[in-house]
Amino acid sequence: MRLSLRFLIPLLLALGVFAYATVPLVDRLMLRWFVRDLDIRATLIANAVQDPLVGLVEQGSPARLTRYFSRLLQDERMHGVGLCLPGLPQPLSSPDFPDALRCDQLDAFAEANSLHLLRTPLGPLHVTVKPLDEARAPGMRLVLVHDMSWIGRRSEETRQYLFWFFVALSTIVALITVVIAQLSWRGWVQGLRAILRGEGLVRPASGATPPELRPLARDVRELVRQLERQHHPRDDSQITWSPEALRSILEGELNGHEVIVVSNREPYIHVKTPEGVRMQRPASGLVTALEPVMRACSGTWIAHGSGSADRTTVDAHDRIAVPPDAPAYSLRRIWLTPEEEAGYYSGFANEGLWPLCHIAHVRPTFRSTDFEHYRTVNARFADAVKAEAKSADPIVLVQDYHFALLPRMIRDRLPRATVITFWHIPWPNPEAFAICPWRNELLDGMLGSSILGFHTQFHCNNFLDTVDRLLEARVDRETFTVTFRGQRTAVHRYPISIEWPPQAMRVQSPVAEARRAVRARLGLPERHALGVGVERLDYTKGILERFRAVGRLLELEPQWVGKFTFVQIAAPTRGMIGDYRDYAARVKAVADEVNARFPAAAHPPIVLLAEHHEPDAIYEYFRAADLCFVSSLHDGMNLVAKEFVASRDDDRGVLVLSQFAGASRELPEALIVNPYDADQCAAALHLALTMPPEEQRARMRLMRGLVSEFNVYRWAGRMLIDAAAMRQRSRLSRFARDRERLESA
Ligand code: G6P
Repeated sequence: MRLSLRFLIPLLLALGVFAYATVPLVDRLMLRWFVRDLDIRATLIANAVQDPLVGLVEQGSPARLTRYFSRLLQDERMHGVGLCLPGLPQPLSSPDFPDALRCDQLDAFAEANSLHLLRTPLGPLHVTVKPLDEARAPGMRLVLVHDMSWIGRRSEETRQYLFWFFVALSTIVALITVVIAQLSWRGWVQGLRAILRGEGLVRPASGATPPELRPLARDVRELVRQLERQHHPRDDSQITWSPEALRSILEGELNGHEVIVVSNREPYIHVKTPEGVRMQRPASGLVTALEPVMRACSGTWIAHGSGSADRTTVDAHDRIAVPPDAPAYSLRRIWLTPEEEAGYYSGFANEGLWPLCHIAHVRPTFRSTDFEHYRTVNARFADAVKAEAKSADPIVLVQDYHFALLPRMIRDRLPRATVITFWHIPWPNPEAFAICPWRNELLDGMLGSSILGFHTQFHCNNFLDTVDRLLEARVDRETFTVTFRGQRTAVHRYPISIEWPPQAMRVQSPVAEARRAVRARLGLPERHALGVGVERLDYTKGILERFRAVGRLLELEPQWVGKFTFVQIAAPTRGMIGDYRDYAARVKAVADEVNARFPAAAHPPIVLLAEHHEPDAIYEYFRAADLCFVSSLHDGMNLVAKEFVASRDDDRGVLVLSQFAGASRELPEALIVNPYDADQCAAALHLALTMPPEEQRARMRLMRGLVSEFNVYRWAGRMLIDAAAMRQRSRLSRFARDRERLESA
């Protein structure tokens, strides 16, 4: 109906204007025709009466002349007749002859172009002046006056006729227009709907596309193909995951959209040393995983500039291109004051959230001043994301527990961004999480994400339970989504991994050489059995339990005393926190204590290397070892386990792995242990040291197969594929909304 009105109103207006302009024109035209008729009629009459009239004048009988005039006036249109004689100002005339017509003023009515009209109070009169035969009646002129009031009547009639004619015409035209418009609109909409349903695009059309829809069909076809191409369900198991695969997903599925990573820890740290500025690669699982991803994707990594020489190495925009030897992406450093670092990083993140999320029997400490700093720093990173974003809808990968508030802050600043948050540490059960005084604010912040990732399904379940318990949100356990404040967050499991093959493997010497070199460095004989552990000095890593297990092994299997050494690489970490300083001291004390229990051993059971090691050096230790022991008390994933597997291209070496590390779900071929059970761990160590090479090979091959296939490119790729699908879904729903609008028009 609205559509019909849209057609009708202008149409009726146009017809009205046309009618309004036409009536005076028709009036004028008809008047001309009538006047011409009267002229012809008057000429006819003048010719007909000329002879009798001249005769009557010659007879000189006014009475007979008057009678003759009366006879002429019997014609109903004739108003008056007059005869002008030479020299007389007044004509001889019939009684109704207008006084205004004097013989000396008739020239205006004799002109050929004039309408010969005389306006009188009775109405318009037509005046014709005709000279009589010059030979018989010299200087005499006949004046015929016709009544024109009937013309006015006719004109009025014509006007009325025209009015009704236009009314009828408008109605008919309007009806026809509405019917045609409705029919063609219906056809148009049907055609469009057929196109949108895919007829003629993805399947043959039921009829040929009408010509007027062809350009539209072409556009829609292109759009559908594009969406189809993008929406084509990618089966991540069919992709060989590599940097190229990741790049092609970014270019294909995500149309080359920019990627911004946000983490607290930076991938390259510049430190001042007496020898000058040195670059360090931090001991961080997060960095280990994300750095190769960023090398593949380019983009920007925003992180806290924590190195003593960081400020001297950035440009005017606080950016530096990394890796330094082959720049692939940009690192944007954010500066924090010592108070901010103490409150946000050491305080709320590492004394609050870290122990809250890890079951390692260290109590979380919550201070409101720390949380204030946490909020301020999150906002600063959100501003940096906004500043670095080159588009309105970048893909932002937010990393870890340092940034629980950041996803919502990004959403506020860039509503169209796709925010993928990955929580690298475990998520506790609702009771444990609920002790945090700012629990709701943290959950609200995290639910600003489009996708929220955890390492294990167990952690996803815990998160959903927590939201269900603490927030007024809609939790869908079928699709694993949370709808909160009108926005949906998908909660999925993305087990993190490492790059394959790892970069550090490019510089490794053969295993035999590594075995010799490491043993020589440690002062051990060539055939000495060697175990290795690589960690930050963190109480969640179970280093004390590990050392106790080594002691227990030597007690239970004394043949290993002096024949087996466990080397622990322990990078100092979070030294501003008392719990960490205490832990570092206890690790050293327990190592000394175990060593002291076996004074007769030719070689110490435990070697503690409490300093930072670069990846190349760590890989050399992995390759030199007979076993690697990962005894985390609680760990999201633990990438050391995967790195050890990746380092063993000789298919040898045994992994002893805590059941409380996420990695134990993916690597069941490791010897899985409970780190709190020293006897079980000691038995596993003995089993590892005595495992036949064939069994080692069989286990290692399976584990290597898994890590190579489920590498970090797959981890990132799966998140990006999900993000791409999410972006397409929102595009399609925008498209559907447009269609509905179109249909309701
Ligand atoms: C864990 C956390 C990371 C962190 C890393 C090192 O893996 O999940 O976010 O970067 O430990 O800790 P640090 O405090 O030195 O960054």
